[in-house]
Amino acid sequence: MSEGRAQPAEPAASPTATPVPLARPVVGEREEQLVLETLRSGRLALGPRLAEFEDAFARRLGVEHASAVSSGTAGLHLAIRAAGVEPGDEVVTTPFSFVASANCLLYEGARPVFCDIDRRTLNITPEAAADAITDRTTGLLPVHIFGYPSDMAGFEQLAADRALWLVEDTCEALGGVHADGRPVGARGNLAVFAFYANKQLTTAEGGMVICPDPAAKERIDSERNQGRAPDMGWLDHDRLGFNYRLDELSCALGVAQLERLEQMLAGRARVAALYGEALADVDGLTLPAADDGGERRGWFVYVVQVPEGVDRDDTIRALRERGVDSKPYLPAIHLMTFYRERFGHREGEFPVCEDVARRSLALPFHPGLREDEVERVVGALRAALGR
Ligand SMILES: Cc1ncc(COP(=O)(O)O)c(C=O)c1O
Repeated sequence: MSEGRAQPAEPAASPTATPVPLARPVVGEREEQLVLETLRSGRLALGPRLAEFEDAFARRLGVEHASAVSSGTAGLHLAIRAAGVEPGDEVVTTPFSFVASANCLLYEGARPVFCDIDRRTLNITPEAAADAITDRTTGLLPVHIFGYPSDMAGFEQLAADRALWLVEDTCEALGGVHADGRPVGARGNLAVFAFYANKQLTTAEGGMVICPDPAAKERIDSERNQGRAPDMGWLDHDRLGFNYRLDELSCALGVAQLERLEQMLAGRARVAALYGEALADVDGLTLPAADDGGERRGWFVYVVQVPEGVDRDDTIRALRERGVDSKPYLPAIHLMTFYRERFGHREGEFPVCEDVARRSLALPFHPGLREDEVERVVGALRAALGR
């Protein structure tokens, strides 16, 4: 063992030596089999797995048209283009989201106009969105944050009343269900799912645009492939496009993941229930909103808000010392450096969003989290909060 240099003393073995990670994808033999088969087929892009994944995903959701893309961000970009966004347009959206839901608007020269969020669901409401509409507003881009369904019936009404387009950011909400029983993303609007490695279903990187009609699918299929229509000749292009294609290996992974989706969603719901029970009596701690009125969250992350007066970042440090990973989640978009500098946003504009963003942290959360790991996280959090 020794190579002549003094070895540092081994730290005492501790039950907290292996940190509880924030997320861990579930991949097994089926994923290995399909990815390997695809790899060995020699067809690594624009092959049969693409349509297989799109069709299987569309069937699972109960929709007719889905278009697989290289990421959720790419999907949002193509979806707002298909919706008809133009440079100079204002689009009402949420400041409490992953930055991509606002960034995609900037790609097209449109301006994200934020409104404050609802304290229970953490989503924007149709009422708040209505107040943010001006004569330059052309669209609405609600996000189902942390998988909790937004009030889409209300947004659909608002869009119809004010002649606005509507794109749903469903990136975090696979498995969510609206009060009327319809799955999130299956209401006939353009909707965009994401399959990054921490999502309910992963293709490593990837996304899926749900298209309301064949024309939207045709446009998105073309724009993801440099503007080439499916029936066009090699290297002929009839519109501007991008390279937002999803490769065959990712599609194979997606097909295998879809086969175990119900089990993975149930695993997430199980872990959420364990956390919910174990944390219910922690004074001042805000837990994710319980499902209400038939709405069902598609569990994606487990985000709590530390009690008033507690420093969230101190809590994260204290958790780390106890071998538990956690992250501030999510920061307010309008207060990010780029958005402050570009649009002159200031603190105080969206007080609910800012308060929630200051106090939120994501705890370890994935379908395979064991009961003893949940207990360890809960114990560490109680100790960190001193309650
Ligand atoms: C709400 C939301 N929108 C958009 C995205 C972008 O997805 P991707 O990371 O696949 O580009 C994500 C993913 O993290 C997200 O959570």
